[in-house]
Amino acid sequence: MLYPLTPSDALATLIDLYPPDAHPGLPFLADLLKQPACRAWYTADADQVTAAIWYLSTGTHAELIDLIVAPSARGLGIGRTILEQSSSALINLGIRTVELEVRESNGAARALYKKIGFVRSGRRRNYYPSESGREDAILMTCDLSENGSL
Ligand SMILES: CC(C)(COP(=O)(O)OP(=O)(O)OC[C@H]1O[C@@H](n2cnc3c(N)ncnc32)[C@H](O)[C@@H]1OP(=O)(O)O)[C@@H](O)C(=O)NCCC(=O)NCCS
Repeated sequence: MLYPLTPSDALATLIDLYPPDAHPGLPFLADLLKQPACRAWYTADADQVTAAIWYLSTGTHAELIDLIVAPSARGLGIGRTILEQSSSALINLGIRTVELEVRESNGAARALYKKIGFVRSGRRRNYYPSESGREDAILMTCDLSENGSL
């Protein structure tokens, strides 16, 4: 089940999902949600929050700002489900394309996005700080109106 997040409940709802050193961090994301262009949802199993996803939209386009699945709930299809369900919600809001940036080394996320229908659209060199210096961002885009799975 997909639940919308609001600026007033985001911090309290997701406090156990986001580690204090997460990038982007929960306080930043909760603040972003005060902008009307920001939309965010979470999923929960009983009382446990299992995942959250955040977008910023402009016209018919949205940028996926963050996606996180609780470590104990990974590998169970929850990332895929929240992406699919939030994409349906975005379509209902008139959004047609979604773009994102992902660390080149983040194989799990890149595989998930590819499976859902995102295609690689570019690269930003040295975009993220990393343990070995800097790391590239891979840009991916998804046309929701052409993607039969969404
Ligand atoms: C990336 C992340 C969201 C994946 O969520 P998840 O719920 O574990 O993923 P799912 O179980 O829905 O997996 C769906 C598909 O993604 C791919 N995938 C997921 N985890 C993977 C892994 N560790 N290695 C390779 N592929 C993986 C697979 O193709 C998988 O399909 P399959 O199960 O049929 O093989 C999760 O690992 C996470 O929260 N990571 C930390 C935060 C993060 O990196 N967010 C992305 C920021 S851009």
